[in-house]
Amino acid sequence: TVAEGKALDGRVHTEHPMNNVPVTLSGKIGRDLHRNPSHPLGIIKDRIEGYFKERAATTGVAVECFDNLFPVVPIVNNFDDLLIPPDHVSRSPIDTYYVDDKQVLRTHTSAHQSTMLGKGLEAFLVTGDVYRRDEIDRTHYPVFHQMEGVRIFPGLLESRGSREEGVKEVEKDLKEALEGMVVTLFGDVERRWVDTYFPFTDPSFELEIFYNDEWLEVLGCGVMQQEIVRRAGKGETLGWAFGLGLERLAMVLFQIPDIRLFWSTDERFTKQFEAGKITTFAPFSKYPPCYKDVSFWIDKVAGFNNNDFFEIVRGVGGDLVESVVLVDEFVHPKTGRASKCFRVNYRSMERSLTNEEIDVLQEEVRTQMSDALKVELR
Ligand code: PHE
Repeated sequence: TVAEGKALDGRVHTEHPMNNVPVTLSGKIGRDLHRNPSHPLGIIKDRIEGYFKERAATTGVAVECFDNLFPVVPIVNNFDDLLIPPDHVSRSPIDTYYVDDKQVLRTHTSAHQSTMLGKGLEAFLVTGDVYRRDEIDRTHYPVFHQMEGVRIFPGLLESRGSREEGVKEVEKDLKEALEGMVVTLFGDVERRWVDTYFPFTDPSFELEIFYNDEWLEVLGCGVMQQEIVRRAGKGETLGWAFGLGLERLAMVLFQIPDIRLFWSTDERFTKQFEAGKITTFAPFSKYPPCYKDVSFWIDKVAGFNNNDFFEIVRGVGGDLVESVVLVDEFVHPKTGRASKCFRVNYRSMERSLTNEEIDVLQEEVRTQMSDALKVELR
């Protein structure tokens, strides 16, 4: 409801100087697309929860599912508890939305690992909306949805000869569980495990599947860093964790071509899906695109970040912006100033746009740029 929306806005748009949450995110917080059982994100969430509940019947360890934990979390939970170093790039206000000096909009569902373990849970799934400042194209949107899974194994270490043996066993269970999940979603596709790095797991892996003629990264996971488990009050108990992006999976499973569609309230989108069913999306006709270029000089390169520009474009154009592409970039040999040219591609998913209305938007983009970004438009 409107009143609820206002209350949520009050909790994310603060007067604090560190606050960098744009008004465009109003109306996204609290939409809870993943809690709608007949929305593609909800359908996939239900599938995965169902799979893990069934598996729990064989392991004897019940899985608890959470899908309405509030997305504003303490900075400590989002970063420090996960051993993400104080100077890690992901903490930068270029990448992360800060509410104030103590809270962020969670950048991943891993933000809930420590608190949930601390509550005494042994196996849980957390699904929720996560927020990152990012580029603009068909697969990137400042809000998306993740699902986190954690399981710890009380008593396992004691029953094995060494930590090494225990870790091996945890890794085996993790890989079995996740391959089973992938088969449930995609059928018996070709799979491969790729070694990777996360500050919060060791060893760490990505699972990839061969689908539609290409290798697709499905999730990140690993054996939990013992320090995280210890700090959550669980001592030397071994555990695993994984995290996956629901949009990425839904886009391939339902053949949804553009991430903006998940937010559409157009019945031609919403009416196509049914609880419990993975079906192929039938695109309604693509309306014509309209693009506008903007070029500008930057005096101090260090003072400008592309994400600041993307956010202005989002703020003005909203979901009419399909993508923003850097088409040209050079440094003037004499003055040393940098020049950039971006192409903003506008396209509505619901109707044809007129050149006149896009000119108005683009003019507003230019105004806001020269006001806020200290660049010289060309
Ligand atoms: N939080 C990680 C991400 O957002 C995913 C992850 C979760 C990796 C849990 C390992 C363990 O990319």
